[in-house]
Amino acid sequence: MEAEGYRKILDFFSATLPDEDEETLLKQISEFAASLVCAERATIFLLTEDMDYLSAEAALGMEASDFRIGKMRGIAGYVLRTGETLIIDDAYKDERFYSEIDKKTGFRTRSIICVPIIRRDGACIGVIEALNSRNGIFSQEDKSLLETLAKQTLVVVLGMRRYHYLSKITRSLREEKGRLLSRLKQKFGVEAIIGVSSAIRRIKETILKVADIDSTVLVTGETGTGKELVARALHYESRRATNEFVVVNCVAVPESLLEAELFGVERGVATGVEERKGKIESAAGGTLFLDEVGDMGSSMQAKLLRTLQERSVSRLGSTVERHIDVRFIAATNRNLPHLVSAGRFREDLYYRLHIIEIDIPPLRERKEDIEPLSLHFLSETAERSGKRVFGMSEQALSLLKNQKWEGNVRQLRNEIERAVILTEHERLEVSDFPRLMAQSEAPTRKFSTLNLRKNREEMERHLIEKALEETEGCRVKAAELLGISREALRKKLKKYRIRRLSSDSEKSY
Ligand SMILES: Nc1ncnc2c1ncn2[C@@H]1O[C@H](COP(=O)(O)OP(=O)(O)OP(=O)(O)O)[C@@H](O)[C@H]1O
Ligand SMILES: [Mg+2]
Repeated sequence: MEAEGYRKILDFFSATLPDEDEETLLKQISEFAASLVCAERATIFLLTEDMDYLSAEAALGMEASDFRIGKMRGIAGYVLRTGETLIIDDAYKDERFYSEIDKKTGFRTRSIICVPIIRRDGACIGVIEALNSRNGIFSQEDKSLLETLAKQTLVVVLGMRRYHYLSKITRSLREEKGRLLSRLKQKFGVEAIIGVSSAIRRIKETILKVADIDSTVLVTGETGTGKELVARALHYESRRATNEFVVVNCVAVPESLLEAELFGVERGVATGVEERKGKIESAAGGTLFLDEVGDMGSSMQAKLLRTLQERSVSRLGSTVERHIDVRFIAATNRNLPHLVSAGRFREDLYYRLHIIEIDIPPLRERKEDIEPLSLHFLSETAERSGKRVFGMSEQALSLLKNQKWEGNVRQLRNEIERAVILTEHERLEVSDFPRLMAQSEAPTRKFSTLNLRKNREEMERHLIEKALEETEGCRVKAAELLGISREALRKKLKKYRIRRLSSDSEKSY
């Protein structure tokens, strides 16, 4: 009979699942406990998190939700404190019995068996209580069965709590990862590439299309066109985004060191040499960006070609080949086909690198990007420096649009940053770009408006600033150059609010 009881316990627990919610599981155990010892009902009381109450997690025939008692109360409280099983034949004759519950539920308690649920460190975390034996009173056999059940219940409850705790953490970590990833994407993905020209739109489309393909991409374009920006976007739009984006600048490092930097070094190559991971290995699961690849020397070119073909690397001084899972992106501002025909760049490597090519045109060939880029850099710098600068005049914009921009977007960015930091206007004016003004000749300037007064004023301001620049701020000489009286110059300086000299501001920059 008793053996059958243990088998039932085993069968019952082998069918429990760890992802069951606590309430359901405890309800199932209580029901099982009642049937195991032939009781009318059974309840599992567990200590609440604040350790002050015993909460009835489930009770056969009653709602568990509003059922909790002080941990010192009643038979359950007694067993919790002493850690000893109690068998009571007539509850109302026992002074430890707490009859309030019967009053509340309308149930009439007669016999009770109550066993502690004890942790391995001796702490009691709850009790199992069964009421009204259908055989009249509870036996010693009921006691040992219920004590076994209590041990199994402990294992299941702790396991389940741990499971729920860990899944809660896992869930919140996963959510956090998603949030971080979308922030990274916003900052470094295609959204970070500003521009409305068809070239930029096409580049963004290509990035999204090839981000998740592991083929090598070659990014070409003049200096400052945004090659690194594009490479980063490729990485952050791909599923590799959670791993590293590693940059190797092939010109900044001497050939002999570049090899160690890329491939790593085995311990003991020379005395005292420590083992070192190369950048290719560091980019595992992520992306390796080979910047200025056109400047790589011939022996490195050969090694790189082998790596791309074999998809493996061996550290300096080692023969062990390590498999790599890396996406390669290369960039250059050199004309690689020319370098190939001049015999300075391996043709086979060139073909390996430019499986997909993204060529970024120079800024002067996509003038429509100048306005959005300028406004972007303007508000970025204003925010960073806390300056109240909100836009630029049409004349200033047209000045920017008519530059050659040999340093491309980088140069534009520098000009705007400088202007925002030094300006005394809330809107950038032509005079905020003295270096550019000097380059663009007045007669070739294009007028953005036909309004005669505006153009005349702009011209006047321009000529006054130029005169002051040439005379190093000497107003007497400037007035002479301009062919007007000193008084007239003073009025105009006031009118155009020209306070400081451009050359001065350059010094204070
Ligand atoms: N389309 C763009 N939108 C926003 N910022 C840009 C854009 N293009 C370039 N930039 C900015 O211009 C600067 C230069 O870009 P980047 O370093 O990517 O150029 P590069 O082509 O790698 O230049 P180099 O050949 O000199 O290494 C960076 O500050 C970059 O953020
Ligand atoms: Mg670069």
